[in-house]
Amino acid sequence: MRVSVIGCGHLGASHAAAMAELGHEVIGVEIDPDKCSTLASGASWFYEKDLDPLLAKHVPTGRLRFTTSLTDAADFADVHFLAVGTPLRADGEGYDTSEVVSAVEQLVPLLNRPATIMGKSTVTVGTVARLQALIADLATVEGIELVWNPEFLREGHAVEDSLRPDRILVGLSAPTALAAVKEVYAPILERGDIELVVTDPATAEVAKSAANAFLAMKVSYINAMAQVCEAVGANVDDVARTMGIDHRIGHAGMRAGIGFGGGCLPKDVAAFTHRVGELGATEAYDLLTAVQNVNRARTTAAANLVEHAAGRPVAGLTIGYLGAAFKAGTSDVRDSPALRLADLLHRRGASVVVHDPEALDNARRSHPHLGFRDTALEAATGADLIVLGTEWPQYTRDADLPAALAEVVREKTVVDIRNAVDAAPWLDGGWTLHQLGRPTRKQ
Ligand SMILES: NC(=O)c1ccc[n+]([C@@H]2O[C@H](COP(=O)([O-])OP(=O)(O)OC[C@H]3O[C@@H](n4cnc5c(N)ncnc54)[C@H](O)[C@@H]3O)[C@@H](O)[C@H]2O)c1
Repeated sequence: MRVSVIGCGHLGASHAAAMAELGHEVIGVEIDPDKCSTLASGASWFYEKDLDPLLAKHVPTGRLRFTTSLTDAADFADVHFLAVGTPLRADGEGYDTSEVVSAVEQLVPLLNRPATIMGKSTVTVGTVARLQALIADLATVEGIELVWNPEFLREGHAVEDSLRPDRILVGLSAPTALAAVKEVYAPILERGDIELVVTDPATAEVAKSAANAFLAMKVSYINAMAQVCEAVGANVDDVARTMGIDHRIGHAGMRAGIGFGGGCLPKDVAAFTHRVGELGATEAYDLLTAVQNVNRARTTAAANLVEHAAGRPVAGLTIGYLGAAFKAGTSDVRDSPALRLADLLHRRGASVVVHDPEALDNARRSHPHLGFRDTALEAATGADLIVLGTEWPQYTRDADLPAALAEVVREKTVVDIRNAVDAAPWLDGGWTLHQLGRPTRKQ
C-alpha cells in the first residue's frame, strides 16, 4: 500500500520505517526541515535502537522517503497515519491538540480521492469525535474515513514493537474503514498471533489512556512500597520479586526507583487525570492523582538518599552523574527522572557532572547549567560520589566499570536510583551501594 506518516518524531519515524519494512511504499512528512533532511539522508535525528539500520535499508531504494510537503503525501498515499505531538497544555489541564487539529485541517482539503486517516497520537476522550466533525466540514470528496489506532510502542524498543506489537487497537465509527486497517496491517495480522481489537473511537481513546495509567500505577505502587521498606529496613527488590511471581501481578514495571518519565507517561497520566476529573469519575481521579503524587515525590526521596549516602548536605559536593536519558535505549530526555534529580541536586548546591552514552547533546541543550563530559570516567574524575541516573547496561552491567571509577573518585560511594546495578563487582571493589527502598550494602 501507499502510506504516509505525518509527524516523524520518536513514534512517526519508527512507524514509517516499520511500514517500509512490512513492504509498503512510505512517505514521511516532517514539518521541521532539519529533522526531515536528516531522515531523508537515511539516518535518524534521535537515537533509537534498530532505527538507523532500517532507514539505511529503505531510504536508498526509495521505498521510504521524507518530505516537508503535505501535498506530496496527499497525492501519493491512500492511508495517512497521524503521528504528531500531543504535549500537555501549559496549564496542565489536558492535551494541547493543536498539532493534530492543524495536521487534519491542512491534509483533508488536499485529499482528492477516498482515503483513510489513522490517528496514532495519544489523545483524550472525545478528540476523535471532534476531528470527525472537522473532516466532514473540510472534505471535498466522499470517502475520507478517520479511525484511531493508538500506539503502544516502548521507546528504546520502538522498531521491534512496531513490527511485532502486542496488539493492534482501532477505534472506528464506520465499518467500511476496517478494510484499509486490515490491509495496512496484513503482514502483521497474517502471522496469526496478534489480536486486532476493534472498538468505537471513545473506547480506543480510553483503552490507550487506561493502559498508560496502569503502567504508571504499577511503577508508583512499587515505589510507594519502597517508602514502606525504607521505614522498616526491608528490601523492596525482594518484595517486588516475591509479588511478581504471582502471574496476576507479574514482574514487568515492578522495579522500584526514581519513577516514570519520558515524553509519554507523565503527560498522558496528567491529561487523563484531568479528563476523568472533568467527566466526574471521582474515584478514578483520586487514584490517578495518587499515582502522580508518588511519582513526584521520588525526586526528593532520591536526593535525600544521595545526602544520606554522602553523610551530609550535597551543597559544595561534586557528583559524577551517569545517565541523562529518561531510560536506557533512547536519547530522549523529555521529562527525564535522571535530569529531574540532577537538577534538584544542583539546586541544593552540588556541582553535577553528567555523562550519557546517547543523550548528552539533548541534556546539554535542556540543562545547560549542569556540567557535561564525554566519558563516564571524565564525569567521575574528582567527584565525591557517583550517582547512576539511567540504567544503561554500560553502567549497570559492565563488571570493569567499578574498578575504573574507583581510580578517579574521592569516595567509593555509589547511589543507584534505578535499582538496576549488578551489585557484585561494585561490592567486591569495596564500594558502598545505596538504592531506593533497600538497606545500604557494603562488603
Ligand atoms: N514516543 C513514544 O514512544 C510514543 C509512544 C506511543 C504514543 N506516542 C504518542 O505519539 C505522539 C507523538 O509522540 P512523539 O514522541 O513521536 O513526539 P515527537 O515530538 O518526537 O514527534 C512529533 C513530530 O511531529 C512533527 N510535526 C508536528 N506537526 C507536524 C505537521 N503538521 N506535519 C508534519 N510534522 C509535524 C514535529 O516536528 C515532531 O518531529 C504523541 O501523541 C505521543 O503521546 C508516542
